Amino acid sequence: MIGPEAEAAAAAIRAANDLPYSVGLILGSGLGALAEAVSDPLRIPYEDLAGFPASGVSSHRGELIAGRLEGVPVVVLAGRSHYYESGNAAAMRVPVATLKALGCDTLIATNAAGSLRTHVGPGDLMLITDHINFAGADPLIGEPGEARFVGMTGAYDESLRAALFGAAEREGIALASGVYMWFSGPSFETPAEIRLARTVGADAVGMSTVPEVILGRFFGLRVAAVSTITNLAAGMTGAELSHEETKQIGPLGAVKLERILRRFLRDRGLR
Ligand code: HPA
Repeated sequence: MIGPEAEAAAAAIRAANDLPYSVGLILGSGLGALAEAVSDPLRIPYEDLAGFPASGVSSHRGELIAGRLEGVPVVVLAGRSHYYESGNAAAMRVPVATLKALGCDTLIATNAAGSLRTHVGPGDLMLITDHINFAGADPLIGEPGEARFVGMTGAYDESLRAALFGAAEREGIALASGVYMWFSGPSFETPAEIRLARTVGADAVGMSTVPEVILGRFFGLRVAAVSTITNLAAGMTGAELSHEETKQIGPLGAVKLERILRRFLRDRGLR
């Protein structure tokens, strides 16, 4: 189920930098700086890895970085391909499979999102506790066999969530939590859609992450995900939403998220 492309990518990575990899990180908008912190990094552009997506969104790089972060062997996927780029919900299948092939047991995904709660605003962080797949696409469509019927009840791992909350607390950084609702994008939501989202229990909305979480569960990884809030959702302020805003505000939360993730890894390394 891992597939030949991911096996080949993993073999190439092991040949150049053979570490006991344990954590995979997917970096979303404005989070690229964390990739720079990886020590003794092996860097491979996605275009040099068969089956990896050509990531085309500005502010997203497409590069795999394998090395250590806070002493922990990590594989960083800097840049993701979104469903809205190609209509292919499985665009990140090979990268996520590569994490599994390299021995990772944990996947932490990050993204930028709009908040539905005024007290969780731009620059704040939200740990995802559950999601609503409103885009209706699924990366496992067409997957053969019984394994595709992946349970999603415990998709966002409870012990990882506790560890991330603990890391945030020790860093003195507020970490909200809530339900993430996936809209396909690339157009932003309408105010009416945000009212719908609120009614069905969403706390934040965004255009990514859900496919990777499903893939992560499919490959048996423990999964956690954190949103950096870049804006209040459509209709909550007078302002029109823009990708420019996502790019500008993203780094505000990213600085805090980087501290939480480093602390999380440091504490994990000590176990
Ligand atoms: N909607 C969808 N995706 C987003 C948003 C939003 O308001 N902000 C950042 N990514």
